[in-house]
Amino acid sequence: MSILEVKNLRKSFDGEIVLDDVSFTLEKGECLVILGNSGSGKSTCLRCINLLEHPDSGEILFNDENILSRGVNENTVRSKINMVFQSFNLFANMSVLSNCMLAQRKVLKRSKSEAREIALANLRKVGLLDKADAFPSSLSGGQKQRVAIARSLCMNPEILLFDEPTSALDPMMVAEVCNVMANLRKEGVTMILVTHQIDFAKKIASKTMFLYSGKVDCLDETSKVFSSPTAKFAEFLAAETK
Ligand SMILES: Nc1ncnc2c1ncn2[C@@H]1O[C@H](COP(=O)(O)OP(=O)(O)OP(=O)(O)O)[C@@H](O)[C@H]1O
Ligand SMILES: [Mg+2]
Repeated sequence: MSILEVKNLRKSFDGEIVLDDVSFTLEKGECLVILGNSGSGKSTCLRCINLLEHPDSGEILFNDENILSRGVNENTVRSKINMVFQSFNLFANMSVLSNCMLAQRKVLKRSKSEAREIALANLRKVGLLDKADAFPSSLSGGQKQRVAIARSLCMNPEILLFDEPTSALDPMMVAEVCNVMANLRKEGVTMILVTHQIDFAKKIASKTMFLYSGKVDCLDETSKVFSSPTAKFAEFLAAETK
């Protein structure tokens, strides 16, 4: 059984089709990278999986349960399929440690001491233990994103979703966030990553999906997608890497 099975997802905004019959599966321990031009539907696809958008039709089976069904607890799903955003979305009025504890306390109902311990362990993992008491405003972009990743890890998610986690960062900061993601991959964390960093995608992705105008243009093992690209993917690569 696949951990995630996305079936025939369709979504339109104001009559404009944004996702057109998108289907794919994700196995435990896999890293799927979604590539595509701006506006091709990558974020919308992740947002549907994170229940931030509701597709017009299709199914999203998570461990065989359709999470689009009525009565599904969205917060529970979001803790298990956790999203890291491009813009970090940290709470500015809370310390790094509190940011990492909040959802653990509210959603997972962990005790204060347990949440604190888990938060500190994950901050250590991303190399930011010394920033536990700092406020987000005093951190660099790369540090903020690493806090956001630690906060996600605190939920013990079964799948991590990353929507362009490095695109708001200065080039200097990109590497530190990529390193954290590469380490998670080594640990076998299951993830879906939307990125414009082709070289990193090639390195980290077990499977690559290329979206073109909301349709799956190609989807296969990363080495195959890159070694025999479709016409549209070749065009995309040429434009992205020029
Ligand atoms: N909430 C919304 N309301 C209306 N249109 C939307 C909404 N969200 C996305 N769209 C439109 O859907 C299309 C796909 O957007 P999406 O954000 O999924 O693209 P993307 O592939 O993530 O692009 P980018 O690389 O620029 O982030 C775009 O045309 C966008 O304008
Ligand atoms: Mg996007």
